[in-house]
Amino acid sequence: MTNYRELNEQLQALTEGVPHPIANLANASALLWQALPELNWAGFYLLEGKKLVLGPFQGKTACIEIPLGRGVCGTAAAEDRTLVVEDVHCFRGHIACDSASNSEIVIPLHRDGAVVGVLDLDSPVKARFAEADQIGLEAFAAILERQDFLPAL
Ligand code: SME
Repeated sequence: MTNYRELNEQLQALTEGVPHPIANLANASALLWQALPELNWAGFYLLEGKKLVLGPFQGKTACIEIPLGRGVCGTAAAEDRTLVVEDVHCFRGHIACDSASNSEIVIPLHRDGAVVGVLDLDSPVKARFAEADQIGLEAFAAILERQDFLPAL
């Protein structure tokens, strides 16, 4: 079980007062990669027009552009809600960047009330992400939003 309070305190300390989006998102993905067991991908996609574009991440190479509304990431961004997918093979339109992925959680990121990107975590384990993970990761995303460095649209 991940200690999200500790993780989120580390994120706060690492990103506080740092005005560099790429540096902060790179460190944020590294923190997730170190703290959460059973992941095969952790990182960000950032909105550019009507597409999500690959941002800082840990894991294998991934698809570079995802149209809004496509896949788990594009759906979470278009509908502006967290998606927890227990079995990605049952999600219509799932984009398989790594065939090892079996479950996924995607959390929209906002600036000034608008979606500007998503946080995406993938796992080789089915139903890897429980409610406690969703709550902890939504708090993680909220810290990034509060630090006010995310690129505006
Ligand atoms: N599986 C995602 C694509 C991104 S990768 O997992 C890194 C999706 O369906 O949106």
